[in-house]
Formats: sequence, C-alpha cells, structure tokens
Amino acid sequence: MKIIRAKDYNDMSRKAANIISAQVIMKPDSVLGLATGATPVGTYKQLIDWYKKGDIDFSEVTTINLDEYRGLPKTHSQSYWYYMHENFFNHVNIPENKIHLPDGSNLNSEAACEEYEEIIRKAGGIDLQLLGIGTDGHIGFNEPGEAFELLTHCVDLTQSTIDSNQKFFGDEEMPRQAYTMGIKSIMQARKVLMIVNGESKADIIERALFGRVTPEVPASVLQMHPDFTIIGDEAAFSKI
Ligand code: PGA
Repeated sequence: MKIIRAKDYNDMSRKAANIISAQVIMKPDSVLGLATGATPVGTYKQLIDWYKKGDIDFSEVTTINLDEYRGLPKTHSQSYWYYMHENFFNHVNIPENKIHLPDGSNLNSEAACEEYEEIIRKAGGIDLQLLGIGTDGHIGFNEPGEAFELLTHCVDLTQSTIDSNQKFFGDEEMPRQAYTMGIKSIMQARKVLMIVNGESKADIIERALFGRVTPEVPASVLQMHPDFTIIGDEAAFSKI
C-alpha cells in the first residue's frame, strides 16, 4: 500500500491525474476503471485540461465504470452515464464504443451483470481502477456486509444512501437498486488508486487502512491488494 499525502483537494486531484496520465502514456490502450461521486470531479477536470493542451491522448483507452442505477435511462440527469459524459467523456477523445457502464436500462439484473463481466473479460481486465470511498467504507455500491467474492451484481440501496441521494432526484422517486462491480471485480484490477478528501472521511480511512480486513468495512479489503495507492488531503488523513 502506498499512501500519498496531498495538501488539499486540488493537490489530490492533480496527483491522481498524474498517475492516470502516466498510465495512459506508458500504455496507450489502457483499460481504466472509473468512478463517480464528488471526489473525482477535480481529477477529471485536470485530465481534460492536459488533454486540451495536447499532453495526453485517450484515443486507444477503454473505460469501465464501477456502477449505475438500475432502472434509469442513460439520458437521465442522475444516471452515472450522464455524470461521466458531463464531467469527462464529452471533453476528451475516448471513442464512444470504448466507454462502458453497467446498462441501467436493462431490468434483467442477471443478464445485465453477466454482460458487464463479459465486457471486463473481453477488455483483458482493468489496468487501473480509480475509487472513492463512502463514509461507511463502501466502494462502488458495495455496502458494509457485502461478500468479498462477488463479481458485478445487483444491490438494494441502503436507506442511508437513499436518504442522502434522494435530493438529487427532486420530486421523482429515486431508484432503489443499482448494478455494481463487486469487491472481487475491483480486486482483480491490476492497480487500484483511491482518492479521498475531507474530514468526514478521516475515521473511515483509519479503519479501512489500519483496521481489521472485514466485509463490514468493504474498503479494508484493499489492504490485501498487491498494487494499491491512496491519495488523500490533510483532513482525510488527519487520523493516520
Ligand atoms: P463522494 O462519494 O466522492 O461523493 O464522497 C464517494 C463514494 O461514495 O464512493
């Protein structure tokens, strides 16, 4: 495990973008596992900036996102497909046919999840997986208690996730389920890069990195990953 200390959110984002950029320069046809949420927005912004300056070329890159709400069409403003296009894909040159997210519009969960694992297999596995972490230690939509051996599967969202995300859906009722890469799919990535910022993550970072490896703290499994790097700002690392 490599722990990289960053001064603040911008510094964290730049350092993460540097690692992703180095990956793509060293292996132009890299398979990048990508994440949504508030944390990676700055990393994507920095990558877009370097792309616009001509410093990085994504034309051979394949992307595989962690998760998607079940039952949302791609074009819904709260879908992760939409988030990824708004925050990253619309601004760089990744070919659309190399962009992958679970198909939230396919209500046949078994078929949607099997299809996604097949996409990961056909791509040759993930070279570098970018991850955030939830305050409860979740990675992707793998909530506490989720078995480590799962591949892509359908999850029931926890009440706390529903409570915190309902506001983004306004009057519309938000989905109650999501498709997510499982812990096993994440652990199969050749490199894992976690980014974390803010004081609200300080406690869980201490538990995830130095506590017991347990499904109760899904991110703790990363202690066992052979090539795991975490970049955090001072607030997130204030307890380690
Ligand atoms: P956040 O989400 O980046 O919005 O904090 C992280 C996560 O839940 O994985």
